[in-house]
Amino acid sequence: VSEPLRFTVNGVEQELDAGASTTKLAAFLRDELGATDVKLGCEEGACGACSVLLDGEDVPSCLVLLGRMRGRCVRTPGHLARDELGRRIVAALMQPGALQCGFCTPGFLCAAYGLALARPAVAGAAVRARVEQALEGHLCRCTGYRRIVQAVEAAVGAE
Ligand code: FES
Ligand code: FES
Repeated sequence: VSEPLRFTVNGVEQELDAGASTTKLAAFLRDELGATDVKLGCEEGACGACSVLLDGEDVPSCLVLLGRMRGRCVRTPGHLARDELGRRIVAALMQPGALQCGFCTPGFLCAAYGLALARPAVAGAAVRARVEQALEGHLCRCTGYRRIVQAVEAAVGAE
C-alpha cells in the first residue's frame, strides 16, 4: 500500500490517497480546493496562467502531478498579497496599462514573487534582463508586456 500524499497549500496540510498521484496539481487546486485564483489556459505549460509558487519557485501547475508533491509547499497567487512583498507586487501590477482583462495577472504575480524571493544580485540594466527572463512563458493577450515588465521591475527592484 503506497503512502498517502502529503503536502501543504497556502499553509493548510493536505493528505490524499496515493491513487491521486496522476491528478494534475492545477485540477486539484481548482476542482477540489476551489482555488479559482489559479487560472487555466493552455493546460500544456505554455501560457503561465496556472502558475503557483512551489517551494518558492514559479511553476505551471498544469504540468505538476500530485505524485510529485510529497512534502512540498504550494502558495497560490491569491494568497501572495498577505505579506508586504506580495502587496507591493500586486500594487505595481495594478498600475494603468499593466493589467487589462486580468486573466494573466495571477501568473505574473507568481513570476514576480518568485523572482523577488530569488533575490537576484543584480542592479541597473541587469534587473530588466532578469525580469524579462522570469516572465518568459507568461502570456498576456492584452497589454503588450511593456507595462508589465516595468511594473515587475519597479516592485522587484525595490527589494
Ligand atoms: S494553463 Fe498551465 S501553462 Fe497554460
Ligand atoms: S491582461 Fe488580459 S491576458 Fe493579460
